Parts: sequence; C-alpha cells; structure tokens
Amino acid sequence: MLVTGATGRVGRLVVDHLLDAGVPVRALVRRPRAAVTLPAEVEVFTGDLTVPESLDPALSGTGAVFLVWTAPSRTAAAVVGRLAAQVRKVVFLSSPHRTAHPLFRQPNPMAVLHADIERLIAATGLESTVIRPGMFASNALAWWAPAIRAGDVVRWPHGAAESAPVDDRDVAAVVARTLSQGGHSGRDYVLTGPESLTQAAQVGVIGDVLGRRIAFEEMTPEEFRSLWEGAAPGPVIDMLLAAWSAAAERPAYLTDTVADVLGTPPRTFRQWAVEHSEAFTRVP
Ligand SMILES: NC(=O)c1ccc[n+]([C@@H]2O[C@H](COP(=O)([O-])OP(=O)(O)OC[C@H]3O[C@@H](n4cnc5c(N)ncnc54)[C@H](OP(=O)(O)O)[C@@H]3O)[C@@H](O)[C@H]2O)c1
Repeated sequence: MLVTGATGRVGRLVVDHLLDAGVPVRALVRRPRAAVTLPAEVEVFTGDLTVPESLDPALSGTGAVFLVWTAPSRTAAAVVGRLAAQVRKVVFLSSPHRTAHPLFRQPNPMAVLHADIERLIAATGLESTVIRPGMFASNALAWWAPAIRAGDVVRWPHGAAESAPVDDRDVAAVVARTLSQGGHSGRDYVLTGPESLTQAAQVGVIGDVLGRRIAFEEMTPEEFRSLWEGAAPGPVIDMLLAAWSAAAERPAYLTDTVADVLGTPPRTFRQWAVEHSEAFTRVP
C-alpha cells in the first residue's frame, strides 16, 4: 500500500492503522527528512504530486494507493494516469460535496478539485473508493486551541452553525479498512461523527473536558475574514463562512458509515477532546 499525504493529519494515521493490521506500507513524502516522523518499518519514497514522474519508483510494485490531494490541480490527470497504469486500487480522500445539506453544498474550489479528481479516477476503471469526511474534529486545534491555551474568550463567527465533527482516527481507520480489505470497490463513504453540535457547543465540550468554562463570543464574518486573511487561503475562508452561515439552526447531516465499515461507533467530539486535551493547555 502506498500512502500519499503520509505526513498529514489523515495519512499519518492511515500509516499506523495499516502497520497495526500487518500490512506493508510505503509512504510518499516530499522531503526526505520527513521520514523521521514515520515508523521505521515504513518504506519511504520521495516524490511530489506536481511532478508526476517522481511517483514512479513508489508506484512500481504497489497494489493500492491512498490519494490525498492538497496540491494545485494541474498535474492531477497525469498522476491519475500513472496510478491507472501501475496499481490496482485507489482510495481517494474527498469531501461530501454531493451531499444535499447546506454545510456541504457551498460552491468552493476544493469541491471542484475533488469532483475533477473523482471523475478522472472513475474514467480509468481502477478499483476505487471515495472517502468523504465532514468537518474534522481536529480543526478545533487550529481554530480554537490558541485562544483556549491563552485563557482567552473564544471569539468566532456563526456560533450557532451545527456540524458533526468526525474524529480523524475514524477517517483513517475507514481508509485503512477500504485499502486493505475487499468489498469496498465503487463505494462512496460519507463519514460524520455521531452527533450534531453547534460550534459554541463544541467549545463548551472542550471547556468541560478541561474543567473550566470557556466563554464564547460571536464575531462578525467581516472580522473573521480580516483576522484570518493570510493565515488561510481566501477561498477556504469564503467556503467556511458560507457553509457556517447556511448551517445555522438546522441539525448536521449524520451517517452510520463509520459504524457500518468498522463495526464500532464513531468517536464523539468529547472523546476527541479528551484525547487531545493537552493541546489546549500547552503548545504541542
Ligand atoms: N479539514 C477538514 O475538515 C476536511 C474535511 C473533509 C475533507 N478534507 C480534505 O482532506 C484533505 C486534507 O487532508 P489532511 O488534513 O490529512 O492533509 P494535511 O494535514 O493538510 O496534509 C497534506 C499532506 O499532503 C502532502 N502534500 C501536499 N502537497 C503535496 C505535493 N505536491 N506532493 C505530495 N504530497 C503533498 C503534505 O506533505 P508535506 O508534509 O510535504 O506538506 C501532507 O502530507 C483535503 O483534500 C481536504 O479538502 C478536509
């Protein structure tokens, strides 16, 4: 199995799940020094999705690939062509852009990129599975941990927007299962956590876990835009604001897919917060 995005949030956990299942793992990294962050058993290959031929050594002799695409799109067709020529199966990390819930249906360039890559993969005839997680629980680390660590009020837009944060470990476990076992070809898995929570309630859960009340204060979208400009790409900020605005006062979309694939219920946001509580008290 070749894991791309192996230094990223989901890919790194997929590596661990595959190793735990006794599956030999290859990892694609852009910089050789990234190998130090991976377990010694992993066969590390240097390559870059924007340089399609750089993938050939990693693809030669590989059966299945976990594809994470955060790079510019211009080499996607060439990369998918190389996958089709050299491997049997691909599992692609996408998003729920086809799901009829306003949180997921705001026009944005990431959804376009995901849809394009899905089309490319489908046209090859490769065995494939599309994994579509909703909001990652771990987004809370970038969004709220700095203010919580500093003991500040969490100021954020659209506190009433509901989502069902999915634990990155559940996403990775589903990916590892679809890569390493049969029966998932042609499937399309929308993954959510088990409960609908407003953004303000998610901050409240983190406060409960830390044993203190964290004040939540509504911020205007304009203020959010000016504060986050530069820290996140403009289209991501636009997409988040549109999605949160559309998702206020209606329950999040929930699926049973994590339980159906893994046989265990998805982890709750509280479980995620307990596991990551240290990140809210000291700089990781
Ligand atoms: N956050 C959410 O709530 C959410 C929800 C649904 C779907 N998603 C999707 O999940 C995906 C991101 O997954 P993630 O959070 O696990 O990723 P991540 O933590 O952002 O990591 C990205 C990974 O891709 C690698 N990478 C970037 N550019 C590359 C290139 N040109 N060639 C080879 N590797 C490259 C990075 O390597 P380096 O270490 O070298 O940078 C890193 O390992 C995105 O497609 C996003 O749209 C996110």
